[in-house]
Amino acid sequence: MQDNTLDFGQAEFQEILNQSSKLVLKQFAEVMDRKGFHDFEQTQIESWFDERVPEQGMPVAELLKFVEAKILNTATGNIGPHMYAYVMAGGNQIGVIAEQLAATINQNVAKWHLAPAITEIDKRVIQWAAELIGFGEKVGGFIGSSGSSANLDGLTVARNIYFEKEDIRANGIFGMKPMVVYCSDETHSSVDKSVQFLGIGTNQLRRIESRADFTIDIAMLERQIKADRDHGLQPFCLIGNAGTVNTGAIDDLNALADLAEKYRLWLHVDGAYGGLAASLDTKRHLYAGIERADSVALDFHKWFYQPFEVGCLLVKEWSILNRSYFKKAAYLDKSLEKGSGRLEFNEHHFLLSRNAKSLKVWMSIKAFGVARIKAMIQKDIDLTDYLNEEINAAKDFELVATSDLAISCFRFKGDLVDNDEITRLNRLLIAALEHDGRVFITGTTLKGIFVLRACFINHRKTRQTTRYLLDVIREVGEELIDREFKS
Ligand SMILES: Cc1ncc(COP(=O)(O)O)c(C=O)c1O
Repeated sequence: MQDNTLDFGQAEFQEILNQSSKLVLKQFAEVMDRKGFHDFEQTQIESWFDERVPEQGMPVAELLKFVEAKILNTATGNIGPHMYAYVMAGGNQIGVIAEQLAATINQNVAKWHLAPAITEIDKRVIQWAAELIGFGEKVGGFIGSSGSSANLDGLTVARNIYFEKEDIRANGIFGMKPMVVYCSDETHSSVDKSVQFLGIGTNQLRRIESRADFTIDIAMLERQIKADRDHGLQPFCLIGNAGTVNTGAIDDLNALADLAEKYRLWLHVDGAYGGLAASLDTKRHLYAGIERADSVALDFHKWFYQPFEVGCLLVKEWSILNRSYFKKAAYLDKSLEKGSGRLEFNEHHFLLSRNAKSLKVWMSIKAFGVARIKAMIQKDIDLTDYLNEEINAAKDFELVATSDLAISCFRFKGDLVDNDEITRLNRLLIAALEHDGRVFITGTTLKGIFVLRACFINHRKTRQTTRYLLDVIREVGEELIDREFKS
């Protein structure tokens, strides 16, 4: 290591890179066999890191060995095929390389001249995303960290633009009529957090009961809008789902757009889970109307198989973001700089410093082409259909909800017949399967019924790994029945 910087000599750094590349390669050599979860006690893992801040450094080779043993080898199997919980896409290898390159050049997409190529790549990825989902040619947007942040961004922009005449950015919401937001009861919890954050309050978030297919009930929604107006409230925003987190339900986006037009409301679409599947020929029709939305939230770390984190907000024009966020600051003033046409992301969002999240998306699209990525999304959907067929054919499983996308909700019954017992068994299965660790799956509640929920969002899944899921659940479930229900 050199004395007066934190850099290593070139040869030493080369050796470190070689060692770390070996670790990366090993992860992929073993990826198909990765356990879903390693069942260590929390206190044990805490103890590995329990030390005072180190005054002196350690040899990097030793550090890498520790990282391999305690972090890589114990990591939850998000990259492997046995992960079914939440919405955990497995990343991709180009993404791994892009992350390293992005950290190397350490660009800051706050200002164009701090990251010229990356700023243009951000813009290009936003344009491509709009094209892929059929949002239209005219688009502005923001590459952020996640679906949650994109939902917050969408609602912030909705509030700031809708109440622009009231100068809400200066006045705040004080003295205004309560402003009301509408969505289905299947909408993601980031929306609740967003309305809390924005001062709207969850009491003004109308979670309209969904229909049997988990999409929003349009007639009930309209009745609620009218009732709120009659009570002197200010409806201003509808949220449509382009794939709910529980079942992948896609709301009738055209019907929502009609209501938005009729009542002059902002339409935000949460496509964090399912939005990018609108690029598939087999699914595009389900998203009809998405082009009429004012804003759309997307997540590339879901169905574009990117390593965490990268999400995206789309709006119809750049000026919408500028009107929502621009704040002059003397030290950021660009008036003395050369060149027009430079887009300044700090003038279009709350964030200032921001890393090159778009590089991995852009490099993945360039390397694989969207046809190949779309084929992987389709494979996830086809494998979900296959799982559903297997469940329907099995006497000891019960399918509770299917999806147009790639989420299956089901219960393991074994030979139990009593509904309460089946519910208790499936609740017990969550911890038992975590302890077993071969597959990682979690549950959810659908209209009062507790179910296991399998989300297929990993290009490394196969029919064989799909059958393995049922085999493991069956094995662990039968043991549970013997232990908890038969003794
Ligand atoms: C429909 C939907 N919206 C929003 C989110 C939040 O996304 P993130 O985890 O990237 O914040 C999720 C996450 O699963 C989701 O499925």
